[in-house]
Amino acid sequence: MSPSTELSFIHRFTPAAEPGRPPLLLLHGTGGNEDDLLPLGRLVAPGSALLSPRGKVLESGMPRFFRRLAEGVFDENDLHRRSNELADFIAEAQESYKLVAPIAVGFSNGANIAAAILQLRPEALAGAALLRAMVPLQNPPTVVLTGKPVLILSGASDPIVPLDNARRLASLLTGAGATVQHRMLPAGHVLTQADLAFTKGWIDQL
Ligand code: MLT
Repeated sequence: MSPSTELSFIHRFTPAAEPGRPPLLLLHGTGGNEDDLLPLGRLVAPGSALLSPRGKVLESGMPRFFRRLAEGVFDENDLHRRSNELADFIAEAQESYKLVAPIAVGFSNGANIAAAILQLRPEALAGAALLRAMVPLQNPPTVVLTGKPVLILSGASDPIVPLDNARRLASLLTGAGATVQHRMLPAGHVLTQADLAFTKGWIDQL
């Protein structure tokens, strides 16, 4: 079946099979699309509704959620604009599909925009699992994230995300009041079985 083009992002939506499970917003990495994280979503949150948009920015033909100037150097004007655009899509999808605010599960570029949405449009997300995330905004606005659950999974040998950067993200979100769990895994940038297990365990206890 082809992806839905009815709302403001091309996306896939899988309705909940079990009522009461939190809906997930799945956000792919650079070069991914709306299909990439559906299997992961089914594994980490069986029975949850899954909403999976495709990033609108193309970098040499590869979909992303916002523009970057270089590896790890973000176009922050675009990031602001795209975070608002994606938060608006979440609201549209909530209305169309009758969903409560979702938990974002983002990988790499998808994790980075999820972190930016927490800082710019916190009402859009009930929480977030940020897999291989880094600090998205150098000067984020003051935000109140009291009690919002956030899981950050970093790779100890990630060549893209320096450990200090991931630690800074964890401390920024903790400082804003989020309930942050930050784990360093024996991994690089690519996801491992441990990422799936930790994410599933974290979602199960929400
Ligand atoms: C980003 O651009 O968001 C990060 O560098 C991660 C990536 O997509 O490679």
